[in-house]
Amino acid sequence: MTDKLIIFDTTLRDGEQSPGASMTKDEKLRIARQLERLRVDVIEAGFAASSNGDFESVKAIADVIKDSTVCSLARANDRDIARAAEALKGAARARIHTFIATSALHMEKKLRMTPEQVLEQAKQSVRFARNLVGDIEFSPEDGYRSDMDFLCRVLEAVIEEGATTLNIPDTVGYAVPELYGNFIKTLRERIPNSDKAIWSVHCHNDLGMAVANSLAGVKMGGARQVECTINGLGERAGNCSLEEIVMAIKTRKDYFNLHVDVDATQIVPASRMVSQTTGFVVQPNKAVVGANAFAHASGIHQDGVLKARNTYEIMRAEDVGWAANKIVLGKLSGRNAFKQRLEELGIQMDSEGEINAAFAAFKELADRKSDIFDEDILALCSDESVTAEKEKYGLVSLSQRSETGERPFASVVFTVDGQERRSESDGNGPVDASLKAIESQVKSGAEMVLYSVNAITSGSTESQGEVTVRLQHSGRVVNGVGADPDIVVASAKAYLSALTKLHNKSDRVAAQG
Ligand code: KIV
Ligand code: ZN
Repeated sequence: MTDKLIIFDTTLRDGEQSPGASMTKDEKLRIARQLERLRVDVIEAGFAASSNGDFESVKAIADVIKDSTVCSLARANDRDIARAAEALKGAARARIHTFIATSALHMEKKLRMTPEQVLEQAKQSVRFARNLVGDIEFSPEDGYRSDMDFLCRVLEAVIEEGATTLNIPDTVGYAVPELYGNFIKTLRERIPNSDKAIWSVHCHNDLGMAVANSLAGVKMGGARQVECTINGLGERAGNCSLEEIVMAIKTRKDYFNLHVDVDATQIVPASRMVSQTTGFVVQPNKAVVGANAFAHASGIHQDGVLKARNTYEIMRAEDVGWAANKIVLGKLSGRNAFKQRLEELGIQMDSEGEINAAFAAFKELADRKSDIFDEDILALCSDESVTAEKEKYGLVSLSQRSETGERPFASVVFTVDGQERRSESDGNGPVDASLKAIESQVKSGAEMVLYSVNAITSGSTESQGEVTVRLQHSGRVVNGVGADPDIVVASAKAYLSALTKLHNKSDRVAAQG
């Protein structure tokens, strides 16, 4: 058995399945490039057959990513698998990940299939996939709650058909570490051809044990692939968090005796990018990537760290990509300096026109904010008005009036398909008035399920505010993010961005459907 642990990132597939975390093609491409810089082994780019949008995203990622394997999920049927193979055509290294549920509950209630039918479908699908791509992963969905004897039959059969990775999902986050570790170990011991495949763990975090379960699957069960997401993003309580797995393996090499190829200094930039793109804020006390993960507040700790860092620090902040907030650019910085910083941050702009638009937005920001940090540049470049994304709605200008004892009032000018509209409204506060003004024209009928404001760079009121607005309409949930030094303007941008996403309807099929 090798001592290399394969890191399989599923931020763009399982992570994105989280309501409100859906991303556009350009956003996914940006994140895929960051995952490649992070040097993850496998990027699960999406579920190509679930919608045309997903197909295009997987294809675009497969076409540009060269150093990581690009993978698409596919249900265990010929149509899904053929679609995945088609999307992956341009990949330097491609993987198809096919799955079918094997627990009695899922087979009977969801699939309405007998175990024998499921076994046949699993075999047939892997056989079909293997003729299209050499690297095939098979997952028995709800595997951890499946009957051991039946699971052994299915897994032995799919290895026989050519599956090269076997992934054992704890789909509902029900496992505990000792039992999950033993489960993987038993499967590997009982299946005669188990050494012909790499074993993988895929744990959900419903009981807060996804990382512990995955590590038990590795240590006790001998798994050599972990499926995980940046910031633990994912449906319900999320997936196993990549940064925690990677740093556990690196920091406790004495115990795990394994290595990962990940460049840990890219962890914090990746965490920020995912958080800024999805609007899913990272809790301050989150391990490795939380704002307080390396902060020492108590006097005793501070004193200890000043005398010897390792008194209270088991990892170094700089090793996972925390850099002291650096003033990177200012009002006088030129286009070349700006362009170079974009390259250093791994932000790829597809045309000179896009760079010009981003530079103009940067200059406009620098006029209002003296110091521009990396986080400001990242926020600015994910703003759809400066990227190539087609905007249905865009902010032109906003003015608002609020005074103690008076009802706030806002007047907003925005574009709809390039046509200017003006609207006005009062409201409980300036943000409420501004969003009501927009809604009174657009009449989306959407329900706001989340509104949150964060400072992009900590420590001062000079920081830009980053606003996330989550809207729900006809069963769809979308997320809009807007940044500006004025949080009322940031709120209007976030609202218009969410409306644009709501407008771009999707016909996506759910992976667990
Ligand atoms: O959690 C799960 O079972 C999955 C499968 C589709 C692999 O995400
Ligand atoms: Zn999952």
